[in-house]
Amino acid sequence: MSKQISGFSKFTKEEKINWLANQFFMDKNQGITILQSYWNSNKKLQKLHDDFIENTISNFYFPYAVAPNFVINNRDYTIPMAIEESSVVAAAALVAKFWSTRGGFKTKVISTTKIGQVHFMFSSNENKLLDYFNSIKSELFEVTNDITKNMRKRGGGILDIELRNKTVDLKDYYQLHVTFETKDSMGANFINTCLEAIANRFKDTKKLDIQIVMSILSNYVPDCLVRAEVSCKVEDLYKDNATYYAEKFINALDIANAEPHRAVTHNKGIMNGIDAVVIATGNDFRAVEAGVHAYAARNGKYRSLSGAKIDPDPSGGVFSFWLEIPLSLGTVGGLTKLHPLAKLSLEILQNPSAKELMEIVAVVGLAQNFAALRALTTTGIQKGHMKMHLGNIIKQLTTNKKEVAYLLDYFKNKPVSHSAVVSEFDRINSKYS
Ligand code: MEV
Repeated sequence: MSKQISGFSKFTKEEKINWLANQFFMDKNQGITILQSYWNSNKKLQKLHDDFIENTISNFYFPYAVAPNFVINNRDYTIPMAIEESSVVAAAALVAKFWSTRGGFKTKVISTTKIGQVHFMFSSNENKLLDYFNSIKSELFEVTNDITKNMRKRGGGILDIELRNKTVDLKDYYQLHVTFETKDSMGANFINTCLEAIANRFKDTKKLDIQIVMSILSNYVPDCLVRAEVSCKVEDLYKDNATYYAEKFINALDIANAEPHRAVTHNKGIMNGIDAVVIATGNDFRAVEAGVHAYAARNGKYRSLSGAKIDPDPSGGVFSFWLEIPLSLGTVGGLTKLHPLAKLSLEILQNPSAKELMEIVAVVGLAQNFAALRALTTTGIQKGHMKMHLGNIIKQLTTNKKEVAYLLDYFKNKPVSHSAVVSEFDRINSKYS
């Protein structure tokens, strides 16, 4: 039976759910009850979420948590994170506390420019195109004057428009490569609106056959770059065998630089922290993900985003660990003020500028990477992961306090797996039944 439908977006929410229930749910009532149980009883709030996207039928919750005790450039932060992976916030909080007694995190925004491009095809004489571009360049700025007025007041706007010949990569392909400064907004809508105005003016010539293909911002932002760093004496890094473990930590980074399979997982750990803060502050995590991974491969090979070194020192060496990543973020515009929780996240972060948010987000990425590498090169990752996982497995089986306490204690020093927990749970229950 066909599961195609037309006019779905015009259905009411109830009609959409009924259609879904009839088509897909094994147990119609149960499915509908699950969807409804996630509706917000505050009708205004629900309407707000309904209207973010099309065809909303319910809400999809993510846990929203905070990691306290971050010290960034000598200022205290509690950082909101939205993420479902059990160990991420615990790791962030642990590492925040660890570095808070070792000078905290230091950060620096290296650059803040963003790129948008008008992609077009042109098959005639390049010099004619260049002459035309030079003759019209100032007008290309002028046609955006109304759009950029407020942004210019805030110190941003269009920084440059270049004509780029891309015909080596693709026959007849050229672009207008436009550089923007968007201050505290991520700037996607601003950039795209400017680009469309520029493209309209640029193509408006009877002398040349310019075929505009598209006008769109780039999520690759290698010149919107931030660096986060921590540093301490090697001897302060571990309780025992500090030099041995510090060198092992650096070895782990060398491996991530040498081997893309490892680099991807290494960077995924960094993104655990980054995405969680990006989502909690209502920013576009897909844009950040795409840009960050492209940056990791900027030299033709996918590598680690972080680096570490040990500098010689009479005390036995100074360990530094850093992360440099491109981040296009906003603290105004988009969802940042529309989504009540995103707005509250920014309040918890003491209403940062976009630059400060770049620094905070990079710090959480670095913290997460530190937690992962420290665990991987010492006890292994599963010990901590499984402790958190154990809690989740137990929750699915029982809420009986005695049983929960027994299972937590039983698995304290034993390997945790779903089947092992279920089997022990069944064993104690069969004993008493
Ligand atoms: C798990 O979400 C992240 C890690 O795999 C990162 C890493 O291996 O570095 C632990």
